[in-house]
Amino acid sequence: MRRVLIIGATSAIAQAVGRLYAVPGTRFFLVGRTAEKLQAVVTEYQARGATVVGTHLWDAQRWAEAIELVEQARERLQKFDVVLIAHGNLPEQQQLWHDLTQTLEQFHINATSIIALLTALVPVMEQQQQGVIGVLSSVAGERGRMQMAVYGAAKAAVTAFAAGVRGYLTPFGVRLITIKPGYVDTPMTAHLPKNPLFASPERVARRIYRALERGGPDILYVPWWWRLLMAGVRLVPERLFKHLRI
Ligand SMILES: NC(=O)c1ccc[n+]([C@@H]2O[C@H](COP(=O)([O-])OP(=O)(O)OC[C@H]3O[C@@H](n4cnc5c(N)ncnc54)[C@H](OP(=O)(O)O)[C@@H]3O)[C@@H](O)[C@H]2O)c1
Repeated sequence: MRRVLIIGATSAIAQAVGRLYAVPGTRFFLVGRTAEKLQAVVTEYQARGATVVGTHLWDAQRWAEAIELVEQARERLQKFDVVLIAHGNLPEQQQLWHDLTQTLEQFHINATSIIALLTALVPVMEQQQQGVIGVLSSVAGERGRMQMAVYGAAKAAVTAFAAGVRGYLTPFGVRLITIKPGYVDTPMTAHLPKNPLFASPERVARRIYRALERGGPDILYVPWWWRLLMAGVRLVPERLFKHLRI
């Protein structure tokens, strides 16, 4: 029996990963923000033969409720074999430059809530001494840039915090995978002009699923060549980079 907790279960990437787990013998606890969307995911996974033991409606702005959420999921699943944290929001940075409240809200949705969830998961995973956590960060966290200042800063915070949690949990036999997709064709990027760098959520999900099943690598670039691309991006000196206005 596989026990799977997905937070942000209505995300296109998470749904596609969940679909690969949605077979008889899998028990899901699914967390999402929008009731109808979450119900559609439940119905689909059940139709595929999986069992959904519980759902929870949660807006990441209520990040302080992370412990409660994890406790509820644990009550229903008993333990977690796989945890996937996938919620996120890509704000229009141009509208944030003069809006402190929105800026901090976006940071809380994309970073604070994930730090809160990981912190709530630590004692549980430490105690059960097994399992794998996958956290959706992004290549956007590797270099701050004008058009994604808050989103990139939040993803950088997630990547750094996740690395710390991985260090803490490794001796307990728990794996943590920081997932860094490049552009993925999902509702989050619907407004962006498409180019050959875009991957489908299904392709990205297959790679994430394989990594979760293997318990690694620690840092997963999807597709893999983003590792090389970002190494190049990081090499551009800031004195030039700041003029690119990207
Ligand atoms: N798409 C990309 O190019 C890309 C690249 C790198 C990393 N990522 C990361 O991958 C993850 C999944 O994104 P996706 O591409 O699958 O996007 P998506 O399909 O647009 O899904 C975004 C998810 O986040 C949820 N969400 C947004 N704001 C929330 C809030 N305040 N509280 C709770 N849930 C909230 C959405 O809930 P609703 O369904 O209720 O709206 C939805 O489930 C995100 O962490 C994203 O940052 C995406």
